[in-house]
Amino acid sequence: MQPVQKGAMLYEGKAKKVYATDQPEYVIVEYKDDATAFNGEKRGTIGGKGELNNRMTAIFFELLDGAGIPTHFVERLSDREQLVKRVTIIPIEVVVRNIAAGSLSKRLGLSEGWELPRPIVELYYKSDELGDPLINEDHIAILGIATPEQLARIREYALTVNSLLREHLAGRRVLLVDFKLEFGTDAAGTILLADEISPDTCRFWDADTHEKLDKDRFRRDLGGVEEAYQEMLRRLVGVVPA
Ligand code: C5P
Repeated sequence: MQPVQKGAMLYEGKAKKVYATDQPEYVIVEYKDDATAFNGEKRGTIGGKGELNNRMTAIFFELLDGAGIPTHFVERLSDREQLVKRVTIIPIEVVVRNIAAGSLSKRLGLSEGWELPRPIVELYYKSDELGDPLINEDHIAILGIATPEQLARIREYALTVNSLLREHLAGRRVLLVDFKLEFGTDAAGTILLADEISPDTCRFWDADTHEKLDKDRFRRDLGGVEEAYQEMLRRLVGVVPA
């Protein structure tokens, strides 16, 4: 495709900025080092995070695209930037879980680390104002956020993404504990996987030691945050230190 020109900033989120381009169907996403947790109550920066998450998201989205999941990803443009198709985000955070942790452990009193009998999907209403509440299909229907058919497709994609990522990560000695996906629709109404897949949005544990290699190190003040993100990239590109 033709090289695109970066235009005006359209939106600044907690971890990314989105820019228009000279081609209406594409936008440029720029990854920041800023980190937030607990709905913006905890703030900080993680050195090099923007570059690392840009690279890791590109690796995961290329893998998923290759396996037939339609995504917004086009190409990585620079250390911090990637070109993506413009979508309208469906305001649902789709969480898939394999192992109990985080808010699931808290809500249901399950010990962190308990392997679930099967993967589960949870839906949260993407709203900073409301603190991203857990919602169900009935809530989604009355809010008019997505049709039952769209929701069925989203669940199917989310579970397929889970199987693909779990298998890929298992080969790199990483357990995929849980993760969050976002989907959008393009101008034709096609559902595309959007946003990012990175240690900001996934729980990754070392398969042998269960050491956390994700944003929980920042959320829980465990230290070694940057090193954990770097380690995840090393595992993904295949240079696993002895
Ligand atoms: O906090 P909780 O246990 O519900 O998070 C589940 C998964 O979803 C975690 O991997 C977390 O990183 C991700 N998540 C996210 N953005 C949110 C909430 C959760 O990426 N707003």
